[in-house]
Amino acid sequence: MYEHDVIVVGAGGAGLRAAIAAHEAGADVAMVSKLHPVRSHTGAAEGGINAALREGDDWELHAYDTMKGSDYLADAPAVETLTQNSPEETINLEHWGMPFSREDDGRVSQRPFGGLSFPRTTYAGAETGHHLLHVMYEQVVKRGIQVYDEWYVMDLVTTDEPDPNDRECHGVVGYDVQSGKIEGFKAHDGVILATGGPGQAFDHTTNAVSCTGDGHAMAYRAGAPLEDMEFIQFHPTSLPSTGVLISEGVRGEGGILYNNEGERFMFEHGYANNDGELASRDVVARAELTEVNEGRGVNDEYVHLDMRHLGEERIMDRLENILHLAEDFEGVDGLIEPMPVKPGQHYAMGGIEVDEHGQTCVDGLYAAGECACVSVHGGNRLGGNALPELIVFGKRAGRHAAGDDLGEPEIKTGYGDDVEDETDTELPVAPGKAGLDTTGSVAADGGVTAEADGILERSVEAAREHVDSLIEKEDGVQHAEIRAKLQRAMTDYVNVFRTGDGIRKALKIIRECRQEYQNVYVDDPSRTFNTDLQQTIETRNLIDVAETIALGALVRNEFRGAHWRQENQTRDDENWLKHTLISWDDGEPSIFYRPVILDGENKTYEPKERSY
Ligand code: FUM
Repeated sequence: MYEHDVIVVGAGGAGLRAAIAAHEAGADVAMVSKLHPVRSHTGAAEGGINAALREGDDWELHAYDTMKGSDYLADAPAVETLTQNSPEETINLEHWGMPFSREDDGRVSQRPFGGLSFPRTTYAGAETGHHLLHVMYEQVVKRGIQVYDEWYVMDLVTTDEPDPNDRECHGVVGYDVQSGKIEGFKAHDGVILATGGPGQAFDHTTNAVSCTGDGHAMAYRAGAPLEDMEFIQFHPTSLPSTGVLISEGVRGEGGILYNNEGERFMFEHGYANNDGELASRDVVARAELTEVNEGRGVNDEYVHLDMRHLGEERIMDRLENILHLAEDFEGVDGLIEPMPVKPGQHYAMGGIEVDEHGQTCVDGLYAAGECACVSVHGGNRLGGNALPELIVFGKRAGRHAAGDDLGEPEIKTGYGDDVEDETDTELPVAPGKAGLDTTGSVAADGGVTAEADGILERSVEAAREHVDSLIEKEDGVQHAEIRAKLQRAMTDYVNVFRTGDGIRKALKIIRECRQEYQNVYVDDPSRTFNTDLQQTIETRNLIDVAETIALGALVRNEFRGAHWRQENQTRDDENWLKHTLISWDDGEPSIFYRPVILDGENKTYEPKERSY
């Protein structure tokens, strides 16, 4: 067994920042990650970091844009914390050596991004996330922070009191991908989940194969609710054949979208008469698919993104890697022809419910970054707001877990007096465990009085037995079959345009996937680098997470941000200014709601009609 004060699970942007902050606050920190840190999916973030750095801009404008972009479903205290702290954190990155792009006068460059009223996206070419990872990993190495890389965290170790608000998290169970060894990691002060997004629940995604919602699923099964999972962002410019991201930076620099008739449809068809291609992502993604559905798509599938007019010099200076991506993955030379693009799953606005300090309702369990929902993105995230979230809230979670006093949080977590229960929606199937023997522990069999070591030992033993049973089983269904079916259902029915009937179909298919998973087996018998085994465990996580996305989408019968419902195409502020929370209540999902906080430090963000 390994022991540290703070265990950070995941080593992307949020995890690295949390580890550095916890270390600076005096904790003995370890990072446990299924990937080497610089292979984390943060490295695929191309566009940039929103920070009010320049004269004429300020954190309040950034907060206003973010609240509007969220379609008024973000919590104002979290948004203001983000926008107030982003400038300092961005400058801090620069001091650590972040190679930001610069103007001729030496100032750090900023470019326009969708939904912003000021060009405040700070960037390093179109490889901002890649540089961010390297710069922060250097700081981790410099500080001597212990990194257990290629250790896959399979489960959390928590006590199992009936009320999740009474539970405690004592550590994690990790599987060493290289040797096949399973060990416990005891955390004296806290476990911080920074495991990224669940993009692999969809089959057309900008997300890496590693984005399997592991933190979401583990926290959910340990009793921390998942918040606003129905809000999935579909990025308007992914490459059709692979889902590879073509940065919004292309449109920020002046790239133009055309349909098959050569029309600049964002203006010519009135989708966004002021901002055109730089409307927020939900607006642009719906516009593109409307063009395709109405017969104006190229090859009935995609639209064109043209950057030729920017000229080779500017493209090579600011967007060079976009040229490589288009050439390598689509065989298109962006200097001489337009690039094919279509919406692709990109980001989960929702996640593990946390407060401004990154705390979940389970004592000692934290989350930060894409796997968390604090909530700064609400119904739709603005491009360039993910990276500041990683550094601002990663740092806060690290400091708090290490014992720094950050004051009383304004945001509440867990089931409490301020929530409202879901009563109305008829579900097509019994979701969750519902009598099925789902593999893997739900929470450690510890109880209030159990010592941390006892719970850890039992959890490690349960994980070893679980892995043995998967490997020793001689036949059954392979995870890849189940995963492909799940991804297809999510892409077919829980995509940009959603209907109640479609979501119900998705829930039925997810249920079938859960049933088939009862019979899953691992074909590869080896104990070393057994990716078949790891992906089998990840697939269980994807099933749990996909179900919460579909459940959230079914109950929210309104159109807000990225969540469009055919049956109700208006935003319903009277009934739906509230977060959807889904908690795993002894193996059955239960749904409740918590009101959105629109009161900020100096003002209330009154919901307005959102147009661009
Ligand atoms: O388009 C992009 O470069 C992605 C940025 C983001 O998701 O924030």
